[in-house]
Amino acid sequence: MLRFGLIACSSIARRRFVPALKRSAHARLERVGSRDPARAEAFAREVGCAKFGTYEEVLSDPEVDAVYISTPIAQHDEWAQRAAEAGKHILCEKTAFRSHAVAREIVALCARRGVRLMEAFSFRYHPQHALVQQLLGEGRIGTAKFFHGELTFPRPAAGDFRLDPDRGGGAFYDAACYPVAAALMTLGARPAAVSAQLHLEAETGVDDAAAITVVFEGGAVAQCVAGFGLHFRSRYSVLGTGGRIELERAYAIPPDRVTGVVVETDPGTERIELPAVDVFELMIGEFATEVQSGRRERDFEGRLLQQSAVMDAALRSHREGRIIPLNGYGA
Ligand SMILES: NC(=O)c1ccc[n+]([C@@H]2O[C@H](COP(=O)([O-])OP(=O)(O)OC[C@H]3O[C@@H](n4cnc5c(N)ncnc54)[C@H](OP(=O)(O)O)[C@@H]3O)[C@@H](O)[C@H]2O)c1
Repeated sequence: MLRFGLIACSSIARRRFVPALKRSAHARLERVGSRDPARAEAFAREVGCAKFGTYEEVLSDPEVDAVYISTPIAQHDEWAQRAAEAGKHILCEKTAFRSHAVAREIVALCARRGVRLMEAFSFRYHPQHALVQQLLGEGRIGTAKFFHGELTFPRPAAGDFRLDPDRGGGAFYDAACYPVAAALMTLGARPAAVSAQLHLEAETGVDDAAAITVVFEGGAVAQCVAGFGLHFRSRYSVLGTGGRIELERAYAIPPDRVTGVVVETDPGTERIELPAVDVFELMIGEFATEVQSGRRERDFEGRLLQQSAVMDAALRSHREGRIIPLNGYGA
């Protein structure tokens, strides 16, 4: 069993990570950490964990093997660095790091310290994506040419870190990362160039809308949009030379939610229903199994670096008003 310590008593830790950890056959909760020791104690009592304390106490606990970092995005770098220095494996919430340069530094530090690092894109673990890749591989919609992904939701409540630029807020880091990750996973080709535009809110200074276009080697194009203050949408579709595949619910998927994949081709439209799964439990299982095997069969770090290169290039494109080629990006 991989023994996890929590770096932050966040909403996502309470709603999804800890319940999944409690069900996991591969990992368990060892110690709860919070900036506020009283908050750590209350959370630990609520979830039935005997040990709690500050973030520093989580990192110095020899019985903690790995940490789950779910602070606001701007605090991920510091705690990932400190966790790596303390010899802890790291499961870090998305967006892991706000720049590709920092991502590269932390991946290198983890390699030196012999610890593994995964960006917690739990959505990837839903079997619906493997089904889409299988259908694409079988040529069910011909050659995939366009990916369209969107993640939009109502405005976060006042005080939420998503509305604070100093804590890494904005739709770009919190939401646009999802359709970008889905496009990289689905199209399976190397990203060649990126362009993006963000809309910044005058009152908060964070972006409330982001549109990112990624052109892939071989010519497929992904259009990714994200924003808040909007109707909820959590989808992607792939348009090919002979059909189209759409996921009804692509990203944040409650563990009791049945999902559907719709395949449109000339003979007609088929809806394939997939049973509910807990993507957090599946993610924890893969992370724990890989870490405990001591082997490097899954390239968590390479996936994190590719994602951060594309996101970093998107931000540069927005700032510089030009298309950013990705060849050797950040090398
Ligand atoms: N994978 C998913 O499905 C998913 C869904 C939602 C969010 N997320 C990601 O998870 C992370 C946390 O999101 P959330 O919505 O759970 O956030 P949240 O409820 O605001 O929790 C963040 C926690 O970070 C700690 N923290 C440390 N420094 C802080 C600071 N300066 N200001 C405020 N809090 C601070 C606090 O815990 P303590 O007081 O206990 O230290 C706080 O409870 C983000 O990276 C987000 O993008 C992932």
